[in-house]
Amino acid sequence: MSSRKTELGPLRSRWLSQPLRTLLALSLCGLIRGYSVTELMSKYPLIDGHNDLALQLRILYNNRLSQIDLANVSEVATDISRLRAGHVQTQMFSAYVMCGAQQKDAVRLTLEQIDVIRRMCTEYQDFELVTSLQEVRNSEMRHKIACLISVEGGHSIDSSLPTLRMFYQLGVRSMSLTHTCNTPWAESSSKYHSFFQRQNDSLTQFGKAVVEEMNRLGMIVDLSHTSWDTALAVLQHSKAPVIFSHSSSYSVCKHTRNVPDWLLLKLKTKRGLIMVNLYNQFISCGNEANISQVADHFDHIKRVIGADSIGIGGDFDGASSFPQGLQDVSKYPGLIQELLKRNWTKEELAGVLRGNFLRVFEEVEEVRDQLRLNRPSEVQIALEEVQNPCRLDLRPPDRKALFSGHSSSSRAPFRSLLFLTLVPLISILF
Ligand SMILES: *[C@@H]1O[C@H](CO)[C@@H](O)[C@H](O)[C@H]1NC(C)=O
Ligand SMILES: *[C@@H]1O[C@H](CO)[C@@H](O)[C@H](O)[C@H]1NC(C)=O
Ligand SMILES: *[C@@H]1O[C@H](CO)[C@@H](O)[C@H](O)[C@H]1NC(C)=O
Ligand SMILES: [Zn+2]
Repeated sequence: MSSRKTELGPLRSRWLSQPLRTLLALSLCGLIRGYSVTELMSKYPLIDGHNDLALQLRILYNNRLSQIDLANVSEVATDISRLRAGHVQTQMFSAYVMCGAQQKDAVRLTLEQIDVIRRMCTEYQDFELVTSLQEVRNSEMRHKIACLISVEGGHSIDSSLPTLRMFYQLGVRSMSLTHTCNTPWAESSSKYHSFFQRQNDSLTQFGKAVVEEMNRLGMIVDLSHTSWDTALAVLQHSKAPVIFSHSSSYSVCKHTRNVPDWLLLKLKTKRGLIMVNLYNQFISCGNEANISQVADHFDHIKRVIGADSIGIGGDFDGASSFPQGLQDVSKYPGLIQELLKRNWTKEELAGVLRGNFLRVFEEVEEVRDQLRLNRPSEVQIALEEVQNPCRLDLRPPDRKALFSGHSSSSRAPFRSLLFLTLVPLISILF
């Protein structure tokens, strides 16, 4: 029959007893194909690039984990039963806060999202929080679902490298530079929000410092949601491979969240990875889509840059509509089956499912090791670039202004400092 059967032959004989093999040989072709998918995905369980369950926990439960059982959550597309059924072994969970929090409390909200991911991944036996390539591999041997934390949107660090480093300390191993808003230092693919409009400066000096610090820390730079100009600038600047954690092909569906062929080629020269997003609007550019149309994205990207630059970033619980037959995280085998039908080889699919991501993560860690002698970056963004009325300009008090009683520009920061000292004093007194 097909070459697929011979490729999986050795696998099958390792795992199956003789009677079962005979039974399979007598089965219908479709059955064998179905079994092959299970076999393939058991050997190479999926690493998925993007999932917004934590956002749904915020929306539906205000992050009160005690009110639900993550084994089965019917309101969402992701729970432990369905991750298991879908052969999802590692999930990048997104710590995402809306762009409306930029210049407000984005950092607090992001910390709360990191907290809820950390809680769910430590309070449930099936999950395991991981922070390195080795831990991903170990978790697979222990049959756990590994959780990697990614921050979605550079507004979450409030233009502060120390904040980025503290996210790293909390386990964050990837960050997309923007969501649907520009940051003071990088540009979004979306024109929806009007913050920080600029021309010809898609990745500012500070933006380059963010990329350098992510390289030094070993945090994967994620280009999903950035403008193509920003993506190009990052590809030119980053020392490590980068990913699009949840984006599809612009040639197949002309949506600015997707990646055009010229950018895919740049991504390949940087040994990067595109993890295909399953949202209907990015697959068919319409409200409806099917698995065949998803597979068209895979086929196209493979033709342009080869199968070893491709992964899967479902975007479940983030996007609002998914293709027929791919409505939740349990449905991934249907997609793999379609790719097998289109003559993708076992080796190609092993890469798409997990090998390609592991290779990128390994190279990101290698760059981190090469940079280990570099000290933490002390680059700071200029206050004028941030334009954030909530940001205190902390400087030593200007004594002259204090005693002259004149209002001056340095008084406001001084008052802030005074306030910061007085509040604890007052709270001790009362
Ligand atoms: C979750 O739901 C599925 C399907 O309804 C069921 O088979 C399974 O036993 C449930 N798991 C738990 C832990 O309740
Ligand atoms: C923008 O950058 C391009 C290429 O670097 C340059 O040719 C062009 O003059 C720049 N435009 C502005 C308005 O700075
Ligand atoms: C998927 O959708 C496309 C566009 O509507 C259609 O042409 C195609 O026949 C569908 N394929 C399947 C297998 O349903
Ligand atoms: Zn997204």
